[in-house]
Amino acid sequence: MAKKSAARTRPDRLTREDLALIGAARVARERAHAPWSRFQVGAAARFGDEIVHGCNIEFDVYGLTNCAERTAIFAAFANGAAKAPMTAIAVIADTPEPVSPCGACRQVMFECGGAELRVILANTRGDARVVRMADLLPGGFQLEAQIPTPPVTPKRKRALRKPARIGEGKPKRSE
Ligand code: THU
Repeated sequence: MAKKSAARTRPDRLTREDLALIGAARVARERAHAPWSRFQVGAAARFGDEIVHGCNIEFDVYGLTNCAERTAIFAAFANGAAKAPMTAIAVIADTPEPVSPCGACRQVMFECGGAELRVILANTRGDARVVRMADLLPGGFQLEAQIPTPPVTPKRKRALRKPARIGEGKPKRSE
């Protein structure tokens, strides 16, 4: 018999935690502000023991719209939940098949949760499937993978902010 922990990490099977996350996404969907598309989307992301809700929010200036998945992730950063790693996210909409996240949200989910993030796609009629992040977004953008030198670290940023004194020269690139 397979061990309980192994069953829990199977990417294709819905666990009790997945069902709870879908439930939370369903609640979040009710809070969607979608006066223009009337297409309500809910999301719920698990950060450590915390579940963070997200819904889509639309504005008269359509380009300012925010998707449910990104709302959840941004909220997690804003309220401190993102100090813990994101291990799963569920998304739900009233669609014939489990809803398919947009490209922008795929990139943000990938950057936040990594290639092994558990993504649960659901619809309001009870269908759901679990996918690995890497299967939703193969080859997602990673800054460190693109450039030969490390990006500006917080330490280097502080060094760059210090006003240079005469004769001291510019801060070294390697700082
Ligand atoms: N939407 C989401 O919330 N998530 C997605 O992954 C795709 C689209 C929202 C944005 C907009 O408010 C509405 O769905 C219609 O595009």
